[in-house]
Amino acid sequence: MNILKKIKKSIDHFHNSKNNIIKSPENAYNIWAKNYDNEKDNLILHYDNIILKELISKIHLKNKIIFDYGCGTGRNWPLLLDKNPTKVIGCDISQKMLHKLKEKYPNAEVYKSKDLKLSFLPNTTCDIIISTLVIAHITDIQKMFSEWERIMKYKSDIIITDFHPELLAKGGVRTFKNGGEVITVENYYHSIKTIEEILLHFKFKVLNLVEKKIDENVKHFYEKQNALHVYENFYNTPFIYGIHLSR
Ligand SMILES: C[S@@+](CC[C@H](N)C(=O)[O-])C[C@H]1O[C@@H](n2cnc3c(N)ncnc32)[C@H](O)[C@@H]1O
Repeated sequence: MNILKKIKKSIDHFHNSKNNIIKSPENAYNIWAKNYDNEKDNLILHYDNIILKELISKIHLKNKIIFDYGCGTGRNWPLLLDKNPTKVIGCDISQKMLHKLKEKYPNAEVYKSKDLKLSFLPNTTCDIIISTLVIAHITDIQKMFSEWERIMKYKSDIIITDFHPELLAKGGVRTFKNGGEVITVENYYHSIKTIEEILLHFKFKVLNLVEKKIDENVKHFYEKQNALHVYENFYNTPFIYGIHLSR
């Protein structure tokens, strides 16, 4: 790297660290909770919804016990409850996100989870685990999946969606605005291959993998956010994926 580039990089780093506040998922979502359901023109939430609908259209949710891992405010619950499951159970690390869910569904069975433990659920409870936009916030996914395995029936399905690891590897970040501040939520890189390998160990096989790239179809989201420079930087990079595994 030449000397000018080095200087520019350290100036950029200084600006980023001054204007960008990085928070743990629990702290970040406790702040984001009050506005999370009011996000407008959010590319990730828009496509997450499309991918989740596509993936769940291939499985029967009727009379099934669904566990929504990192359920947040229950954004997916209208879609899930519409399919007449026996019940939907949720957990989240953020008390404030759960509080928002409870405002909408006062009788919901939800738990505040800690340290990736799901001790509030007995073994072989769930038919389906759904987890949208959560996995990259988890440090130890091996430990998390071992707990999932414990609470799942043998014949079961897993649906995961998230920020695409390739986007994270290229420096993509998950941010939100809080007043005048931009808050970045801590993310960790887990390749889709790693996720598949851990779950294969528990006998889950991939039935469907959906990936979406940043291209002309999504340009208008960046235009609305005044972020065409981000669009140019990440052009052709996959930004979200959804995966359905079954055993
Ligand atoms: C982007 S939000 C997604 C919420 C919801 N699944 C949705 O799609 O709207 C990520 C959620 O994951 C939760 N989360 C992060 N780390 C977690 C952990 N270790 N265990 C459980 N939930 C976690 C956050 O609190 C937050 O509610």
